[in-house]
Amino acid sequence: MEVVIGAPDALARLAADAVQRLLEGTPRPVLGLATGSSPLAVYDELARRHAEEGLSLAHARGFLLDEYVGLPPGHAEGYRAVIERELVSRVDLDPAAVRGPNGSADDVPAACAAYERAIVEAGGVDLQLLGIGTDGHVGFNEPGSSLASRTRIKTLTRQTRVDNARFFGGDVDAVPTHCLTQGLATIMSARHLVLLATGRGKAEAVHQLVEGAVSALWPGTVLQLHPRVTVLVDDAAASRLQLTDYYRQTYAGKPAWQGI
Ligand code: GLP
Repeated sequence: MEVVIGAPDALARLAADAVQRLLEGTPRPVLGLATGSSPLAVYDELARRHAEEGLSLAHARGFLLDEYVGLPPGHAEGYRAVIERELVSRVDLDPAAVRGPNGSADDVPAACAAYERAIVEAGGVDLQLLGIGTDGHVGFNEPGSSLASRTRIKTLTRQTRVDNARFFGGDVDAVPTHCLTQGLATIMSARHLVLLATGRGKAEAVHQLVEGAVSALWPGTVLQLHPRVTVLVDDAAASRLQLTDYYRQTYAGKPAWQGI
């Protein structure tokens, strides 16, 4: 696990560099797309590079991490709509090449199985962008999630609904109670995981993720078992890490050609 501590804009550029390297070096790259606030600066940077530097995502495909259940089709806070707004509409990514779990499906288990199959048929996710919840969830894998889980329906914790109420006019009751999410094993199947976290509110989750014991209580800790994880954190999110000096020293001494 590589930990990079830096300013939020520099972290977003590092993540965008990794995406760009993938886009430029792979004929049919598969991006794992996260929602929430954390990846927004990365999408801004990709949109800027597309507009100003000709970066193309036309040959890429994308898979969303998760989706709410129970929102009316086309709801502005459905993750499919969010990713359209924040990324797809601002670059040349083909909307038809971006899929998410179907939160309106009548047959939820069948929809989840179909989503898993679609990821496998695309060749798997090359680079998965991730955020982390204050309770340590990745995707919407709340505490207690099986570390071997696949795409399925989950109940959101009260904490997650409170955290996400800001997207629903501050009304926690307007936040859906359920979601479909890639499982932890689904996420672990991606070839490179790039997790972004900023702000003091994420400090305990980041500490557990990087330095805690692997446990379903802090679902993000399963990432310790993945061979290629990059954790991009600002000073505030890094404030509870124990080995901060070592992470800084390691990154400062890294050969530039390695990237993240
Ligand atoms: C949300 C999403 C996650 C996201 C996390 C943190 O509920 N389902 O994919 O990583 O919670 O969100 P934010 O980046 O807004 O803090």
